[in-house]
Amino acid sequence: MKTLKEMISKYNRPGPRYTSYPPVPYWNNAPDETTWISHLQSNYDPEKGMDLYVHVPYCESLCYYCGCSRTITKNHAVEDSYLEMVLKEWDLYQQKLGFTPTINSLHFGGGTPTFLSPVNLDRLIKALLKNKLETFIGSIEIDPRTCQSAHLKVLADNDIKRVSLGIQDFDPLVQKAINREQSPAMVEALVEKIRKFNISSINFDLIYGLPKQTTESIAKTIEIVIKQRPDLIAFYSYAHLPEKIKNQRLIPNEDLPSPEQKRELYELGKKLLQENGYKDVGMDHFALPSSFLYKAKIENKLHRNFMGYVDKKSPILLGLGPTSISDSSLSFVQNIKEVKTYEQTIKANHLPIEKGHTHSSKDLLVQDMILELMCSNQTTIGHKDIPHWPEIQKELYEFEEDGIIELTENTLRLTEMGKAFVRNVAMCFDYYLREKTSSIKFSQTI
Ligand SMILES: C[S@@+](CC[C@H](N)C(=O)[O-])C[C@H]1O[C@@H](n2cnc3c(N)ncnc32)[C@H](O)[C@@H]1O
Ligand code: SF4
Repeated sequence: MKTLKEMISKYNRPGPRYTSYPPVPYWNNAPDETTWISHLQSNYDPEKGMDLYVHVPYCESLCYYCGCSRTITKNHAVEDSYLEMVLKEWDLYQQKLGFTPTINSLHFGGGTPTFLSPVNLDRLIKALLKNKLETFIGSIEIDPRTCQSAHLKVLADNDIKRVSLGIQDFDPLVQKAINREQSPAMVEALVEKIRKFNISSINFDLIYGLPKQTTESIAKTIEIVIKQRPDLIAFYSYAHLPEKIKNQRLIPNEDLPSPEQKRELYELGKKLLQENGYKDVGMDHFALPSSFLYKAKIENKLHRNFMGYVDKKSPILLGLGPTSISDSSLSFVQNIKEVKTYEQTIKANHLPIEKGHTHSSKDLLVQDMILELMCSNQTTIGHKDIPHWPEIQKELYEFEEDGIIELTENTLRLTEMGKAFVRNVAMCFDYYLREKTSSIKFSQTI
């Protein structure tokens, strides 16, 4: 039996997080605009509606660890042209599709959606939600430092009932090291207000592996989190890629925990959350038994997409705003990242698509297997057509020997210890990773 240290040194290597398959750097064969629209039209079902994702690319200040796509500015004059462009993009879609889709869900991500003034947020939501399903679900990412009561009122009035708060860590030294200072008292007061607005689900984003984190600081952070009792907790592994993400160079290497220390931080956080009634759901997520996510897990209805885990999805995810990703079930596309170019393309009446990928039947097979693994810690392996099956089988036996998985004839199941290596197991099915010898940069799996 290998020690945790030996396991980490064997398996800790760069790899995708599999919010999509294939991962974005491996996309090829992008659909052209006409094909993309035809994919949306052929998969649209008015009874199931569409899921909308809206990316708000602005933040007022820079968090040093941040790997999201965002522009830092304190100039709120940018809001007007941003709103105009996103709404024009939505109009272009409606014109090209020839109908106004029904909306199953709307998620605002970023950047920081609460960068928008409450008035602008209200305008945007109302324009997008003219035709929503009765079972509509609305959700938003909130920065506690920029969220006002007026934002919460807009959310409650417009049926946006699930909020996610960027917390990361409560320790003052860690907060200083990541340039994100927000006190537990300020967050607590905001949580209290959110609850008064009858918002049904509160998620906290936490990160482990940040500079200056120790087992003591994580224990203290978790203690504060538990007192505030969010319904959900995303406990993300810090993805540190300073060669690719310039702002992360502001974090000195010597302030970061080693891979073994980082794993210890996660295991401690997990233990404390579980002792306090949180259940683990999928990769890096914890949920109270009363939460929608835990119910979805129990009822086998958990899905994973670019935004994380969801309980209800339609066949189409349409992303609006710079960098947003869309999924027609037949293909993916991603919008232009650079805000100015995004705006110019829309002004010229074109969909602002930068790249895309059309799924092959092999892609869809592996996509299903990885999705199942990420949602339920097990996957079906009986298919005859899994690409590279002989090599995969050898690797699976090695995972089994190392205690990461248990194998039966048609199923692979992660062991409790093996959950830490879920990305490594997913990677063995990823034939793009196996076949391409390029220098694409991914974060470490542990
Ligand atoms: C768009 S932000 C959330 C909303 C808002 N911008 C905020 O920070 O409060 C999405 C989340 O991504 C996570 N995140 C950002 N950069 C990360 C990184 N390098 N590694 C792991 N998680 C990261 C953080 O937990 C963050 O809350
Ligand atoms: S973590 Fe959130 S607030 Fe901080 S820079 Fe990234 S997107 Fe902006």
